[in-house]
Order: sequence, then C-alpha cells, then structure tokens
Amino acid sequence: MNILLFGKHGQLGWELDRSLQCLGRVSALDYPEVDFMRPASLKQVLYENQPHIVINAAAYTDVDKAEAEANRAGLINTEAPAILAETCRELGAIFFHFSTDYVFDGTKGTPYREEDAPRPRNVYGRTKLEGEQATLGAGGTNFVFRTAWVYSLRRDSFVTKVLRWAHSQPELRIVEDQISNPTWARELAESLAQLIAKAGPDPIGWLSQRSGLYHLAGGGYASRLEWAREILRDDPDADRQTTRVVRAARSGEFATAAERPMFSALDCRKFQETFDLRLPNWDVALRLALACEYNGAPQLQHL
Ligand SMILES: NC(=O)c1ccc[n+]([C@@H]2O[C@H](COP(=O)([O-])OP(=O)(O)OC[C@H]3O[C@@H](n4cnc5c(N)ncnc54)[C@H](OP(=O)(O)O)[C@@H]3O)[C@@H](O)[C@H]2O)c1
Repeated sequence: MNILLFGKHGQLGWELDRSLQCLGRVSALDYPEVDFMRPASLKQVLYENQPHIVINAAAYTDVDKAEAEANRAGLINTEAPAILAETCRELGAIFFHFSTDYVFDGTKGTPYREEDAPRPRNVYGRTKLEGEQATLGAGGTNFVFRTAWVYSLRRDSFVTKVLRWAHSQPELRIVEDQISNPTWARELAESLAQLIAKAGPDPIGWLSQRSGLYHLAGGGYASRLEWAREILRDDPDADRQTTRVVRAARSGEFATAAERPMFSALDCRKFQETFDLRLPNWDVALRLALACEYNGAPQLQHL
C-alpha cells in the first residue's frame, strides 16, 4: 500500500511518519519539496506518487500570525486540501485531513459534537473550516479529523513553553478560561495507524464505508491552567524549577492578535463508537510524553 504523507516535519507529521512505516510504503514530504502556497502543483505530486492513501498533516498553524496573513493561511489551509481531496477522488485514493476545535466559537459550554454548528472566531479557524468543507465536498473517500491543543516536545508547543518558563521564572500566570483537550501528537498518530490497521487487508473498501467528519483528541479536557500545573508536576527536571507560584489569569489580561474560543473541548464519542478506538486521557498521555520525549533542560534552551 502506498501512503503519501504531507507535513513530515510537523508535530503530527513526524509522528505519523514513524507510526505508519509498518503499514505500507510511506513517502513523506514537507516544505520546500512541496509548497502548499502553490496548491495547483500538488496534483502532479499525487499523480507521480500514485498513492492509495494520502494524509495531510501540513497546515498554517500560527493562530495569531494568521490574522495578518489571511491569504497565506487560506492557500495552505483551504486551497491546498481542496486540491488534495479533488485529486484523491480522481485517483481513487483515500484522503485523511486534520482540522481544529477553533472552528467553534466556544460558547456551547459542553464538549462539541460533529453536528454542532461551527462559528470560527479567527482567521485560522475560518481557513481550517473552509478546508474541511472543501475536503468533505470534493466527493471520493475523505476523512476529516478535528483535533485540539496538539503538542509534542520536538517543536515549540504549550508544553515546551511552560517547561521553559518553569525553569526560568519565579511566577507563572496562566489562563484558566480557555478549555479544550490537550492532545499528544504521538497518540493522535498512533490512533490513525490503528484505524488503518483495523481496516484489514482491504482498507480501501472498509474505510470508504466509514468516511466523514470525526472529532479526535486527547481524552477528557482541561483549562490551560490545569494543563500547566500538570506539566509542572510531571516535569522530569522538577527539582530544577525556578517557579514557586502559578497564578490563574483571564484571557483578557493578555493581548493577542487572534481571539480564541473559551470552551472548545471536543466530544470524541463518534470516533470511539465507529472504530472502537480512543485516545488516552490527556493527563496520562502528558505523563507519558514527558517521560518519553523529554531530553533534559539543555534541549529546551533551543526552543
Ligand atoms: N497545533 C495545535 O495545537 C493544533 C490544534 C488543533 C488542530 N491542529 C491541526 O492538526 C494538524 C497538525 O498540526 P501540527 O501541530 O502538527 O502542525 P505543525 O507542527 O505546525 O506542522 C505543520 C507542518 O506544515 C508544514 N507547512 C507549513 N507551511 C507549508 C507550506 N507552505 N507547504 C508545505 N508544508 C507547509 C510545516 O512546515 P515547516 O516545518 O516548514 O513549518 C510543518 O511541517 C494541522 O491540520 C493543524 O491545523 C493543530
């Protein structure tokens, strides 16, 4: 089985490249070998590779910068997946794409289900929503997985930021009014590998009966404050922390270019019920991530 993966240097893409190796022949690409700013060029890449499965982990993910770079974010998050989905339909390939909890406005108050109406508050969320709509509307067999608060310790993430602050600052102020599902990139990648493995010897037929939109994120949910406190507790270098106090703050105390939803946790029951798979609870995954990926404080200085 030929698997073509985009975004191999990203948090999720790097883990997917690792998790999918045993399932087929994986061709993994990233910028500058492919440039999502030139979406039309992607058609040729697909025709050359003749994949059975295409996985798109590439995206424009800088939520604040997107406010001033709407055109760039639109090309990468909307136009490029639209071309990928359309070309997959032409080739009879299955397309897996990822979207975000930031398609929601965060006012519902309980975890969002797939049928809830999206209403993005920022450019990133809008371009991702348009990307998922283009993907699902392209025909063929497409999966869109909305995920949330993805982290790894390989690239700068909320987890690496909190660790860096905890090792350099006496006091942290972390928002308690933003709530979602912290999701370790490795668990997300593993769940996609498990899904493809579950599909068995005729993955194309099995998957095409189950295509569509799914929420897929770490189990449970937390505020950024709860997440940060857990990071401090599980820090393998806790004895070197300089932070003595962690204070609760409100989003309004920090000026950011992009407005964020307050409660954007995702309800992942549809994925669980359809595939009998679920991601571990966010706090267990975090402990594992810190135990597996943490390479000591010196590495953090590069981030
Ligand atoms: N991170 C989160 O908290 C979060 C939350 C919800 C949903 N998601 C979604 O989950 C998916 C994976 O996110 P992630 O955190 O793994 O993203 P990430 O770490 O930012 O990786 C994105 C990848 O896309 C590549 N890319 C950016 N511009 C490109 C271009 N013009 N052409 C080709 N490739 C380009 C990046 O390349 P460079 O290495 O050159 O930058 C990077 O390898 C995305 O769909 C994202 O929207 C993420």
